[in-house]
Amino acid sequence: MNYSRPYYRYSLPILNQTLIAATEAANQFQFKMHYAIKANNHTRIVQKIKEYGLGVDCVSAEEIEFALLQGWSPTEIVFAGSGKTYFEIQYALEQNVGVIHCESMQEWEIIQEIRANTASKTQIALRINPDLKVETHAKISTGEKHHKFGMGFHEALEIIAIDRSIIGFHFHIGSQILDMQYFESLSLTVRNLLDTLPNNFNLKYLNLGGGLGIDYEQPERNPIPDFEGWMMALRSHLPTSLIPIIHIEPGRSIVGQCGTLVGTVQYLKHLDSQPLAILDVGMNALMRPALYGARHQVTAQSDQLIRVNYTVSGPSCESSDTFGDNFLLPVLKRGDQLIIHSTGAYGASMSLNYNLRRPLESQFIEEEIKTSFKKTENFAEVA
Ligand code: LLP
Repeated sequence: MNYSRPYYRYSLPILNQTLIAATEAANQFQFKMHYAIKANNHTRIVQKIKEYGLGVDCVSAEEIEFALLQGWSPTEIVFAGSGKTYFEIQYALEQNVGVIHCESMQEWEIIQEIRANTASKTQIALRINPDLKVETHAKISTGEKHHKFGMGFHEALEIIAIDRSIIGFHFHIGSQILDMQYFESLSLTVRNLLDTLPNNFNLKYLNLGGGLGIDYEQPERNPIPDFEGWMMALRSHLPTSLIPIIHIEPGRSIVGQCGTLVGTVQYLKHLDSQPLAILDVGMNALMRPALYGARHQVTAQSDQLIRVNYTVSGPSCESSDTFGDNFLLPVLKRGDQLIIHSTGAYGASMSLNYNLRRPLESQFIEEEIKTSFKKTENFAEVA
C-alpha cells in the first residue's frame, strides 16, 4: 500500500507556455495584465508570473502585503473588492497602490475621508456593474444588476461630476466564460457607456476584469486558454485608436491548467449504483466540486485495458465531499494514485483546514515529461 500524502503538482512548462501565449496576445492587442492573485498564491508560481511582467490584482490588505513582499512595485497593484474595510482602504492608500476600484458612493466617501489625511499617490477608478447576463455557473457570475458588485452607471456619473480625479472605470462580468460573445457584449456595453460620458471627462484608465475560461473537460488536449480570442473580443468595440491600453485581470486562465491534485485510493465500496473510490483528499484541498458542483477530470496511470465507471469521493464527513460520478477508470485497488486535473486555480488558495487537515505540499515539474496516461476512448468500458 502506498502511504504517501496527497499533494498539488504544478507543471512549470505549462505555466511558461501559458504565460508566453498570454503575453504575446497582450502585446498584440495592447493589454496590460494584472494577475488575480486570489487564483493561486504559491510563491514559485507568482514569481514566474511576475517575471513575465504582469501586474497584480489584489482583493484584501493581506494580498497587497503579500504582493509587495513578492517584489511587485505598488504602482503595479490594483485593489478591488466589494467589501473593503476602512483599514484596508487606509493601508492601500498608505502603500500607494496603483489604482483602487471603488464599488459604491459610500466607499468613495470613505476613500475621500482617508485621502484628506493621507498624502497618497493611489488613483481611483469606479467599478461599474454593466448588467450583463453571462452563461456560466450562477455562483461565479458577477455582472448583473442583482449582484452585489459595482455601481450603476448613473451613480458613477454622480461621482465623476464631483470628483475630477477619477481616472476611469473597471468591469468584471464573471469567471469561467468560454463563449467569446459575452466579452464582445461587454466591449459594446462599455463603448456605449463611454460614448455617453460628459465631454470634459478625460478617460485615462479602463479595466475589463478577468473571466476567461479553461477547458476542464479536455485539459490535456487544450492546456492553453484562448487568450487571443478573449482579447480580440474585448477589443471588438474598443479599438486602440479610442483606448490605447486596456487593463485586464486574468486569474484562472493563467494558472488553472498547470496544476493537478494527486491523491491515493484509501477504500473501495461496491455500491448498487456504481463502485466508489474514497481518496485521502477532497473538499479540504479542492472545494470547487462541493461548492459549485464543478467537474474536474480524474485519471489514473495504468496500462490496464478494462475501464469501469467510478464515483470518486473525499474523506470528509460531508456527503458533498465528492468529485462526482462516472469517472471511467481502470479497476482500482487500495493505494492507486488518482490525478485530479485543472486544479491550479482556486484549488490550494481556497483550501480549508476543516477536520484540522494540514495544507498540502506542492511539487513542481521543472521540465516537460511525456505523459503516459492513455486516452480513455481507446479502452473497453465495463458496466
Ligand atoms: N477580477 C475580479 C474583480 C474578480 O472578481 C475575479 C475573480 C478576477 C478578476 C479573476 O477572474 P478569473 O480570470 O479567474 O475568472 N472560486 C471560483 C472563481 C471565483 C472568481 C472570483 N473573482 C471558482 O473556483 O471557480
